[in-house]
Amino acid sequence: MIINAPSAQDIRQAAKLLKAGALLAFPTETVYGLGADAQNPQAVAQIFTLKGRPKDHPLIVHIFSAQQVHHFATDIPTFASELMARFWPGPLTLILKRKPGVADAACAHQATIGLRVPKHPLALSLLGDALSLGVMGIAAPSANRFGRVSPTQAQHVFDEFGAALMILDGAACDIGIESTIIDCTRGTPILLRPGQLLPTQIECFAPVQVPGMSPSLLTPQSAPKVSGSLLSHYAPRARVRLLSPDDMQQAFSFCEVPNLAIWSQEPCIQPLLANLNQPNIHCKIMPQTAKECARELFATLREFDALGASEIWIQTPPHEPQWLGVLDRLTRAAHS
Ligand code: TXA
Ligand code: MG
Repeated sequence: MIINAPSAQDIRQAAKLLKAGALLAFPTETVYGLGADAQNPQAVAQIFTLKGRPKDHPLIVHIFSAQQVHHFATDIPTFASELMARFWPGPLTLILKRKPGVADAACAHQATIGLRVPKHPLALSLLGDALSLGVMGIAAPSANRFGRVSPTQAQHVFDEFGAALMILDGAACDIGIESTIIDCTRGTPILLRPGQLLPTQIECFAPVQVPGMSPSLLTPQSAPKVSGSLLSHYAPRARVRLLSPDDMQQAFSFCEVPNLAIWSQEPCIQPLLANLNQPNIHCKIMPQTAKECARELFATLREFDALGASEIWIQTPPHEPQWLGVLDRLTRAAHS
């Protein structure tokens, strides 16, 4: 059931349900989350079951403010406290050393915990109300079935899980890709997942290491390169291909794909449209900036799936630092 424009009372009610052990979906500025009381192992187990997520994949725990960090984590390095002060609330998850005995199931029994203070006002209200009821944190992965496209609208969550789940509708997510994850447990910040917040922004506090990813992407004026060994994830039903404008033109001239969908920038799409007489080709113009692209990315994959596309061709975005998060998601979507 989708709750449109939830009132303060609706949010208080939702917090009570969380306290009682229920699951519910809520918006964050990145993507919608599927939440449960992080300290309730039965409720957390339901998240894994509903998503079909492997039990050893830890969940991010959302907290109301940096004050709750000390309930869950210990041995917090100075650079981590500085990152919290600078970037929370916001799209940054910090991996810290977990206090033994807290949020065991949510963290898949790992010695670490992923914590984040989201910026969406509805998420913060929910966290505040939950905290006043003694819920110290809300464990929430993205509200989609495991491996599928993350939801950026309440309707996407409904499409994944149906009417049985309570979904707080907070409109379309502003950022559209998941938070940047920084591991703070190994002496220096290590980027585990790129997002809107860039390593270059974090670099002011300490040098950021990026394992498995070309350092060339981290600094401007760099040679283009993307890791080729990423796991399949964020996958729509259709096959995704990333193509340069030239390759797209060429592939298009030999194209016999039924129900082809194309997401590319205007200069690339125009010549294709000029030859376009097949009704079963769907085209959408890709925005110019990484921010706008991120905002539209998952909704676009879902739209093309809903149109019954068998292949989705996407113009490879520029290999520049600000595109790191979008490139990561597209590369994974294309890997399946
Ligand atoms: O933007 C986001 O981060 C969204 C919204 C809902 O906040 N959440 C999200 O959660 O993307 P999820 O479950 O899809 O991402 C979980 C990832 C794990 O795959 C892992 O990389 C990291 O976060 N993570 C979480 N807890 C961890 C832990 N205890 N130790 C190490 N890594 C952890
Ligand atoms: Mg996810």
